[in-house]
Amino acid sequence: MALLFEPFKIGSIMIRNRFIRSATTSYWSTKRGIVRAEIIDLYRRLAKGGVGLIITGHLYVKDSGKAHVGMAGISNDYHVPKLKELAHEVHKNDGKIVAQLNYGGLHNLVDKAGPSEYVVDGSKRRGLSTEEIHDIIEAFGEAAERAMAAGFDGVQIHGAHGYLISQFLSRLANRRTDKWGGNLENRMRLLFEVYDAVRARVGGSVPVLLKINCDDFSPTGFTIKDSIEVAKAICKRGLQAIEISGGGIGRQEDLRVRARSLDQELYEASFAGHAIKMRKATQPTLMALVNGIRSLECMEAIINKDVADLISMSRPFIREPDLVKRLKAGQEASTCTSCNLCISKEVFGKMMLRCHLG
Ligand SMILES: Cc1cc2nc3c(=O)[nH]c(=O)nc-3n(C[C@H](O)[C@H](O)[C@H](O)COP(=O)(O)O)c2cc1C
Repeated sequence: MALLFEPFKIGSIMIRNRFIRSATTSYWSTKRGIVRAEIIDLYRRLAKGGVGLIITGHLYVKDSGKAHVGMAGISNDYHVPKLKELAHEVHKNDGKIVAQLNYGGLHNLVDKAGPSEYVVDGSKRRGLSTEEIHDIIEAFGEAAERAMAAGFDGVQIHGAHGYLISQFLSRLANRRTDKWGGNLENRMRLLFEVYDAVRARVGGSVPVLLKINCDDFSPTGFTIKDSIEVAKAICKRGLQAIEISGGGIGRQEDLRVRARSLDQELYEASFAGHAIKMRKATQPTLMALVNGIRSLECMEAIINKDVADLISMSRPFIREPDLVKRLKAGQEASTCTSCNLCISKEVFGKMMLRCHLG
């Protein structure tokens, strides 16, 4: 139990415990992607609640990459002042915070464009030109620089959940025949170039994290085999921490089971089985594990069995922003039931993030 609540170092920063609030969009930014007072208040409560590291909800790095109404941006200098306020509130309450950088791609609100032509729900989406790919890479770098100007402690590249980087990694979504598609080496190129652009702007010691799928859970897409290769290569490049998630383009719910561990203590951590397979390939880079983790027993097992170094959660912190304090005081588990009302179609992009369970 002690280890979970002890300070822990990620690159150049020290966090007060091993808990991460995984990136969670709050839906509630202005039309121009500027965070509102309610969002800053939410981050204040999270920091006061004792979580070690907060990862912001995804921030679009370029206006064209905005993925949903209410998504916050880091694509323009006018986004910086409010982000600065947000980071300051977290620091004032002894927390650390990194900005999650993203580009929607096939999920863009307006111009839905990914690696190559792709049909979603009967509607055709276009492939990006080489010039557009270069602009997006540059935008990730510029966004990272803005994150530094806003006082964030680091950045996380969103390489998971079927957004642009994850689309490029997927053989299903990426049908390009140039150097950005085809074999895995080519499909990882966007991620690598984004990483290099970000690293060049933030410097060598600032934590750069990556959220990646262990598996897209598609029969013909990005699998654990690919994920191990990508994770190994990007960690070697100097990444400070890798967060293991899952679910991308072409996902099928029934395939999720293949990522679980059969170890009863780890069972609730949806992707622990796959994380164990990735661990050897990525060490000594730090690993965070997300999805389904609710009980202190499972959190301890993850650390004690060396599945991962850090415990990452999203929905539990929507319900209980002070969850870490509660766990420290003896509460045995999060009271989040994973009902998913917080991310249902009814609320997505329409109201401020909150738990809808009584
Ligand atoms: C309301 C909501 C918003 C989310 N927004 C993001 C996001 O902006 N970026 C991201 O990487 N994941 C996002 N996620 C996914 C979570 O970070 C996390 O991977 C997922 O909820 C599983 O973890 P959990 O079981 O602890 O909730 C979101 C999840 C929810 C419920």
